[in-house]
Formats: sequence, structure tokens, C-alpha cells
Amino acid sequence: MSHEIVEKRIGLMGLLIILVVSGGGLAEIVPLFSQVEVTAPIEGMKPLGALELEGRDIYMREGCNVCHTQMIRPLRAETERYGHYSLGGESVWEHPFLWGSKRTGPDLARVGARYSDDWHRVHLRNPRDVVPESNMPAFTWLEGASLDASGTGGKMKALRMVGVPYTDDDIAGAAATVTGKNELDALVAYLQQLGTILKGKR
Ligand code: HEC
Repeated sequence: MSHEIVEKRIGLMGLLIILVVSGGGLAEIVPLFSQVEVTAPIEGMKPLGALELEGRDIYMREGCNVCHTQMIRPLRAETERYGHYSLGGESVWEHPFLWGSKRTGPDLARVGARYSDDWHRVHLRNPRDVVPESNMPAFTWLEGASLDASGTGGKMKALRMVGVPYTDDDIAGAAATVTGKNELDALVAYLQQLGTILKGKR
């Protein structure tokens, strides 16, 4: 009977659906805020260096995250291929997250130190030079574009405000680290540190 009352009143049913879905969502999400496992950085984690941070911005600008995830699921097929599954603590200083949702190319969460810097340089310039069947676009313009060192310290300050533990020294030295480097240097530096803390663990 009561079932019929709800089924015949679409407005009431809509309201009840909203209540049930939000209740379920809140019950799953809210407890996570107080769970150390997902709110504290994993052991040994360091904030990105100045050059790596600039590289991350280029990664976002070029839309690498549209084709590549940085999120290894705890499934055997994934851990066999990529390494240790992604942990919440690895992402606590990520603003914004670059987990991605589509894998046109492989996951990059642990690509750091898998190839040499030179491999990445050649691959980004023209992926077909090292992976003949690749359909990844070539990013030819990065090498000729120098970085603007004047903004790096400011980016670190902004990240510090949202909890990334940069020191005053990190911020003061940012411009010097970035000066004279190009966008390809920065992107390769960023790629080479990805997931290296949990390298070799399963
Ligand atoms: C249109 C989709 C697409 C975009 C955009 C893209 N990639 Fe790829 N990427 C691929 C595909 C497909 C592969 C696999 C073939 C290969 O290795 O080239 C790949 C492979 C890679 C690999 C090698 C991974 C491994 O484990 O062997 C790296 C590193 C990489 N991409 C970095 C990047 C970076 C950095 C960017 C942004 C500048 C980027 N990709 C943008 C599709 C894409």
C-alpha cells in the first residue's frame, strides 16, 4: 500500500530518492575526513620541487591527464602491470587531483624512473620514434619554450596555504631552480618522480 503512495507521486518519490542517495553518500564520504590513512601523507613523501611543480602545470595545460590516469586500482591485472596500487596518502598534497578517468595511454602513477630522461625527451618530441605503434600526440613545442621563473615561488606560497609543507627556503630558491630551464625539462622532472616512493612494492 505505502509503496503505491510513493510510486504514484513522482515529486514525493524524487524527494525520497534524493534523501536516500545523499544519506548513503554522506555515510560513505564524511568518515573519510577523519581517517588518517587518506588524510596524512605516506611515509617519505616530499612536496614537489620547483621544477617538478612547473612540470605538473605543463602536464595539466597539455591535457596529459585526459589520456592518462594516475590511479592504480587494487586489482591484480593493474598491480602486475603498474606496481603498488595508489594510496590516498599519496594524493594529499595534490591540488587539483590528476587521477583522470580515461586511459587512452597507460596509467602514469608509477612511471617515474621507469625510463631514462632521454627516453622521455625523445618520446615527448615524437612518440613514434620509440614506440612505433603509438598514437600519442607529439609535443614538439615544449623544448623551445623557456619557463617563467617569476611565478614559481607564488605558486608554492598558494599551495602552502592549502597545506603543502613548503618551507621559506623552498620558496626563496624556486626562481633560481627554474631559471634557464625549458618546459620539456620541467615535464620530464615531473614524470620522473611519479610514484617513486612506492617503487618496487606490491
Ligand atoms: C591522445 C592521448 C594522449 C595524450 C594527450 C597524451 N598521451 Fe601519453 N600516451 C598515449 C598512448 C596511447 C601511449 C602508449 C604508446 C606510447 O608509449 O607512446 C602513451 C604513453 C605515454 C608514456 C609512456 C608510458 C609507459 O608506461 O610506457 C608517457 C610517459 C606518456 N605517455 C606521457 C604523456 C605526457 C607527459 C603527456 C602530455 C604532455 C601525454 N602523454 C599526452 C596517449 C596520450
